[in-house]
Amino acid sequence: MSSVRVTVNGMVYQREVEDRMLLVDFIRDVLQLKGTHIGCEVGRCGACTILFNGKSAKSCLLLAAQADGAEVTTVEGLADGNQLNSLQQAFKDNHGLQCGYCTPGFLMASTDLLERNPHPCETEIRQGLSGNICRCTGYVNIVRSVEAAAEAMSPTSAATA
Ligand code: FES
Ligand code: FES
Repeated sequence: MSSVRVTVNGMVYQREVEDRMLLVDFIRDVLQLKGTHIGCEVGRCGACTILFNGKSAKSCLLLAAQADGAEVTTVEGLADGNQLNSLQQAFKDNHGLQCGYCTPGFLMASTDLLERNPHPCETEIRQGLSGNICRCTGYVNIVRSVEAAAEAMSPTSAATA
């Protein structure tokens, strides 16, 4: 067993975990944050994407023990209470989801993308989200959603709103 002290969505948790426990299982089953989904469990689908120390990471490829001392953000950490953030709202407004299974992962990967590049072109968005798979949307509306979020989050747009 290992002792893990981790900050998730701004809250500090200290838990004893089995050495082999995956971070995605820790998030879902120990912390009961079910917004992070499990798909392939081998790093291919992106459903389990979180922010790990501010960077997009696949939580099925990390052990819970590796999160000791880390700062984690899951999809539950994006909204402010019931108020969706700009990215979530853009996905809603632009039909960036259908079944929604992939959506938490896309939201977290897009959050990282927009942090690094606030004004990505379509190619950069597609490249930035290439580690995430969606079986429903055909990706077009996901790209539109990220473009719309970038627009909504730009200082010019905020100044004219
Ligand atoms: Fe982690 Fe698919 S469940 S990448
Ligand atoms: Fe269904 Fe992406 S919306 S897998």
